[in-house]
Amino acid sequence: MAFKALWITEDSNGKISREIKKREIADLPDGDVLIRVHYSGLNFKDALSASGNKGITRKYPHTPGIDAAGIVEQTNNAEFPVGAEVFVSGYDLGMNTSGGFAQYVRVPAPWIINKPANLSFKDVMTIGTAGFTAAVALRKMELLGQVPAAGPLVITGSTGGVGSFAVLLAASAGYQTIAITGKTNANEYLHSLGATTIESRSFVDDKSGKALIRPQWAGGIETIGGNILQTLLKGCKPEGTIACTGLVASNLLEGTVFPFILNGVNLVGVGSAEMPIGKKKEIWNQLANNKILLGNLSAIATEVSLDELNEVYIEKMLQGEIMGRIVVNTQL
Ligand SMILES: NC(=O)c1ccc[n+]([C@@H]2O[C@H](COP(=O)([O-])OP(=O)(O)OC[C@H]3O[C@@H](n4cnc5c(N)ncnc54)[C@H](OP(=O)(O)O)[C@@H]3O)[C@@H](O)[C@H]2O)c1
Repeated sequence: MAFKALWITEDSNGKISREIKKREIADLPDGDVLIRVHYSGLNFKDALSASGNKGITRKYPHTPGIDAAGIVEQTNNAEFPVGAEVFVSGYDLGMNTSGGFAQYVRVPAPWIINKPANLSFKDVMTIGTAGFTAAVALRKMELLGQVPAAGPLVITGSTGGVGSFAVLLAASAGYQTIAITGKTNANEYLHSLGATTIESRSFVDDKSGKALIRPQWAGGIETIGGNILQTLLKGCKPEGTIACTGLVASNLLEGTVFPFILNGVNLVGVGSAEMPIGKKKEIWNQLANNKILLGNLSAIATEVSLDELNEVYIEKMLQGEIMGRIVVNTQL
């Protein structure tokens, strides 16, 4: 049986091309469960995979999409019978396993989570890896003692997927937030998510050469890397935590040890894809019960088809132009 999928190919000169193509279910990788995908969501990693980044996807042709939600159609696993409403987020989906930018995926059962009954497929994919990652970041910070009374959290790439959920989750947990954005038209959006103040990227791009700068935030959720990550560490109040989640501008970690040894600042890593499934389920359960979060999903989501994803939104994400989450209705 044929189905529609985004298809990335590489020619003998290394040139990457993409198209929407009919694929055969028989060509999907082996796995326990065949899922008819209803929705997926666009993450930065997907945009890299779709443009030939070998750090994400080693071999082409390939279908990206690290998130997928839908209905089980074939199964050898009693936990996920035919008709079960499920989703997959992370592990190898969309990296070197055919991913969610398609009408079908076939995956190992240990990657699958039952969809919370109160969420639609679209809700789950609006949250997706991005919302989950922001939740993990805040949780890790709080395990190290981060509290709203200590002062504001700074959030970089704040109109992006991780950033939008970081602002929303932090605000819903009672934090003041400083949302950093390169966009000049994002104030209304960011305030609607709960941002307290909005600053341009230069606010967190210190070029003074100093090892420490005036502390202006009590912690941060960082998606950009390089000098911006370094600035967040230099300007963090004593005992605060900076959660490193991304590398949109740079994968470099630079700087001195002074934020750590003079101010007791913590740097924590967030890697959501490979987190053990039990822990993932626990955090998804918290997200599914966060009423403030659920009330804001429609403001964050832009629903698109596979064709629009291919023609417009992958490129927009690579250019840093996305606001919120691009949610892909694979059945359109
Ligand atoms: N650790 C994990 O498990 C995990 C999970 C998910 C994502 N991530 C990583 O987190 C990062 C964000 O992912 P995402 O899916 O949220 O991407 P996204 O939706 O594209 O958001 C990235 C945002 O970063 C800002 N930005 C873009 N280019 C920039 C530049 N050159 N300098 C400074 N800011 C820039 C833009 O926001 P503004 O215009 O508002 O500044 C953009 O919307 C990526 O590096 C991704 O790989 C990691």
